[in-house]
Amino acid sequence: MTHKIPKYQPSDDTYLMLDSLAGYRGNSALEIGVGSGIILKELCKSFSIVVGTDIDLDALSYCNQLNRIEADLICCDGAKALAPFQKYDLIVSNPPYLPAEDNDIYDRTIYGGITGSDVALEFIISAINLLSQHGAILILLSSLSNVPQVYNVIASLGLCRRTISTKKLFFESLSVEEIRFFPSTI
Ligand SMILES: C[S@@+](CC[C@H](N)C(=O)[O-])C[C@H]1O[C@@H](n2cnc3c(N)ncnc32)[C@H](O)[C@@H]1O
Repeated sequence: MTHKIPKYQPSDDTYLMLDSLAGYRGNSALEIGVGSGIILKELCKSFSIVVGTDIDLDALSYCNQLNRIEADLICCDGAKALAPFQKYDLIVSNPPYLPAEDNDIYDRTIYGGITGSDVALEFIISAINLLSQHGAILILLSSLSNVPQVYNVIASLGLCRRTISTKKLFFESLSVEEIRFFPSTI
């Protein structure tokens, strides 16, 4: 059986998220949009229950068969297929974030809707019900998308947010945002 390589190969955003995971520990973790699984593999080192989702079945097949990741893998939109009786101490996502200009070339690995932030917002909203009381969501944002819109929605939901890491590239600035129900004590 042949396995297709996931369309999205690890890039600057992937590595910024990977570096941001240091220090996060707990029982259960969820990644939304696993791609090649490099972040998921790291989560397996610090959490006993690890679940990953992706809309792309080929990416999940690659994680399972070639990358040999021992996590539960679910093909679904965001985290919509997950039941809220299992809560997660950490939920991470590096969502597609480029503003879509042309629907003809719409690639779900990189385009995040008209503003670029639409998919990030959908992921955050689908993750809230699954977050444990003292857990954290880590989401990667790019200056190429509508970051103020994401900040506004997070605030309007009554959630706490802080930027935990940033990276400046010549064409964009990346950040990892931590979202919680209560202010961080770290
Ligand atoms: C920017 S890539 C990140 C991949 C990997 N996590 C990384 O950091 O290298 C975004 C991933 O989200 C997945 N994705 C896009 N839309 C999705 C959706 N609605 N639900 C679940 N996954 C989705 C894509 O297939 C892709 O694997």
